[in-house]
Amino acid sequence: MSIFVTRRIPESGFAVLRAAGVPFEVGQDDDERPLDPALLRAGARRHPVLLCQLTDRIDREILGGPPRLRGVSQMAVGTDNLDLVAAAELGVPVANTPGVLTDATADLAFALLLASARRVVEGHHCVTGGRFFAWGPQLLLGSGVGPAPDGTRKTLGIVGFGRIGRAMARRAAGFDLRVLAWSRRRESVAASPDVHWCELDELFAQSDYVSLHVPLSPSTRHLVDARRLALMKPTAHLINTARGPVVDEAALVDALRARRLAGAGLDVFEREPIVHEGLLGLDNVVLLPHVGSGTHEVRTRMAVMAAESALAFLRGERAEWELERSGRD
Ligand code: NAP
Ligand code: GLV
Repeated sequence: MSIFVTRRIPESGFAVLRAAGVPFEVGQDDDERPLDPALLRAGARRHPVLLCQLTDRIDREILGGPPRLRGVSQMAVGTDNLDLVAAAELGVPVANTPGVLTDATADLAFALLLASARRVVEGHHCVTGGRFFAWGPQLLLGSGVGPAPDGTRKTLGIVGFGRIGRAMARRAAGFDLRVLAWSRRRESVAASPDVHWCELDELFAQSDYVSLHVPLSPSTRHLVDARRLALMKPTAHLINTARGPVVDEAALVDALRARRLAGAGLDVFEREPIVHEGLLGLDNVVLLPHVGSGTHEVRTRMAVMAAESALAFLRGERAEWELERSGRD
């Protein structure tokens, strides 16, 4: 009876496992690369509980064994790498780490918004590249986020009004942004009086900044496609801290290249860790290596939550952060 920890996690998680006195094996003691899928399969054959990462693809074959898993504890909130339908059918419980990373991820989304709007990375490269010759009346002019001198407010469109979407709206209030939001359930937006629910296409057309916060599922894959990008203002910026495949990356490259879209701030990519080479050559993008929840404090707590869920599964108990076993998105 042991736990397979697919990759090295913060020490706080190992401390929970050690204190419980349960044996565990670490698949890969490496922070840089995902665990090889063959090693993942082999580990799942030796251990009935997995403590995994979003880089591990957990399919029906892994879940069903033999041996059939007693539980899968994922150290992330997104679960699109797991076959939840198979898990539900096979009766394998799954847990994730919701809530604890909400503020860190919204902070990063807002950082991307500001960086893209105010051309922060271009400015950095101007200085480090020895091209800062003097203050200039027209040097690196960006797009305002707070109100313009005449009081005109900018509009932020939030796609997916869950935990992180709502945290984004709270940050937007501090910048006096007008906030539109789309979520399937209109009532989740109605609870926030300063946020206006909006049809998705209208949100794309009206917003100066669009920030994505939906999970990846069949219905959100390429939700931002060439047609929706064409609805956006040429002065607008797209921010994605959700999942890469929510955006058609090739269409995004075309729009950015043609300056039909002013900029994009991306923490996630369609085929991570591969980044569309068109993005790499653009100056109107800010690109980060999927670090939305990446603060010391948050990762320390995520590791504890994931370890506690793994222990609960090993003991045949219900985990506190166990997902509903509906198998639907
Ligand atoms: P959440 O609380 O579940 O919010 C997601 C919201 O999206 C839901 O409230 C849901 O509201 C809406 N939604 C719209 N279309 C949906 C669909 N087809 N399926 C499911 N929900 C849909 O999740 P969260 O904690 O805010 O996290 C959101 C996503 O952010 C995660 O799934 C993950 O992919 C991503 N994330 C990324 C990072 C990073 O490092 N970049 C960190 C954390 C999370 P309705 O039911 O009203 O539609
Ligand atoms: C990170 O992307 C997460 O889903 O927790």
